[in-house]
Amino acid sequence: MERRDCDAIVLFGASGDLCYRKIYPALYHLVRRGVLTVPIIGAARQGWTLEQLAGRVRESLKAFVPGADEAVSARLVGLLRYVDGDYADRGTFDALRRALGGAQRPLHYLAIPPSMFAVVAGHLSGSGAAHGARIVVEKPFGRDLASARALNQTLHAHFPESSIFRIDHYLGKEPVQNILYFRFANSFLEPVWNRNFVASVQITMAESFGVAGRGRFYEEAGAIRDVIQNHLMQIVALLTMEPPVNTEGESLRDEKAKVLKGVRPASPAGLVRGQFAGYRKEPGVAPDSRVETYAALTLEIDSWRWSGVPFYLRAGKCLPVTATEVVVDLKPPPAQVFGELGPEQPNHLRLRVGPDVAIALGAHTKKPGPVMTGENIELFVAQQKGDDMDAYEVLISSALIGDSSHFARQDEVEAAWAIVDPLLEVRTPPYEYAPGSWGPAQADQLVKGPCNWHNPGARPEDWQRSCGPGPRS
Ligand code: BG6
Repeated sequence: MERRDCDAIVLFGASGDLCYRKIYPALYHLVRRGVLTVPIIGAARQGWTLEQLAGRVRESLKAFVPGADEAVSARLVGLLRYVDGDYADRGTFDALRRALGGAQRPLHYLAIPPSMFAVVAGHLSGSGAAHGARIVVEKPFGRDLASARALNQTLHAHFPESSIFRIDHYLGKEPVQNILYFRFANSFLEPVWNRNFVASVQITMAESFGVAGRGRFYEEAGAIRDVIQNHLMQIVALLTMEPPVNTEGESLRDEKAKVLKGVRPASPAGLVRGQFAGYRKEPGVAPDSRVETYAALTLEIDSWRWSGVPFYLRAGKCLPVTATEVVVDLKPPPAQVFGELGPEQPNHLRLRVGPDVAIALGAHTKKPGPVMTGENIELFVAQQKGDDMDAYEVLISSALIGDSSHFARQDEVEAAWAIVDPLLEVRTPPYEYAPGSWGPAQADQLVKGPCNWHNPGARPEDWQRSCGPGPRS
């Protein structure tokens, strides 16, 4: 990996919500850890002064870093500079170039609406501030395959691919990185990690809250664009990729892009869209909105490893819990020596990938006693939380040193859009579901075989396994 550290950070959208909620707290922790000592130039079009920016940063720390250390906060505030102006105005960028002083390798962080990316990238280039720089762009990266391609073209006109860091904050999350580690640091998984042993894979991203004041944004996005095209596709890629030759950014991304290119474009016939009751009354939401707050779908991968294995994905707002889980159901043994368990009770691997990290291996063991009857158990391990870095800390510190492994590459992003593109055309009304339920019942029809959807629980050890005869819940 080329290690050339950035010598300044420029935050476009310094007055915005993302900086307030995520970026300032992350910068605080990076200063606390001693890894951030370079100037931070906030840019916004608010008519602010440096003092006002400092005030906003302090408010953010008060809200999101309980017990923030005053000495660290003061060090962070001491790094701030401020440039005010319209992003469409070249003068703003001349002022920015001056504020950068002798900095040779700035990191430009675009925490602004995607519609502004092109104009900012163009002015950065025109003012000389793109030279030697890296650029970080927030999701959503495009609205579909065509717009993502156009955006890539625009950025490439001013920055080489190696300087573009596309954020998918799931890639900065500890439990998501753990998928990669767990798969490739152990040898016991590999022999069964394929179509010969895996019956199906489920990924559930459940959130117990609604659109949380982001109705206007959500109306433009919906669950498929908001989280399935990016967060869930990255999880699919990490679960299914071939072993990378090393952990460097390009090697990881080569394998992820390769497997995503093998995923068949999703079929609208395998899609169930839902909308929680009450969504249409949210501020910024149309009274007749057809935007989905829930989506469940089936994917198939055309590869030697995965051909024929269904991947069931679902994501939704206002579900019973906030949790993301992967459940890999294995095929039953070829002969049923202990008949009573039957094919309805497959072994499984359950990976909890948010908000906590847990790994559980589902197996059958003999019940103590004279008869050969068994029971389902889980070998369960939950990771203790340490001084974990938040996803944004991981991402910003990686971008500062030029480590691309936690960022999405152009071909990955485009492959992920190619998978969901056919679903974006679906215009039928979504099924309504009650807040606090597991979404529309129609989604149960998607899952084939002896098991239905497995529902994550509030605690990592509690979950609802749903296999075998009886009503499919
Ligand atoms: C964001 C989506 O990318 O991810 C949100 O826009 C979603 O709708 C969020 O709530 C989930 O992220 P996290 O880190 O809270 O799991």
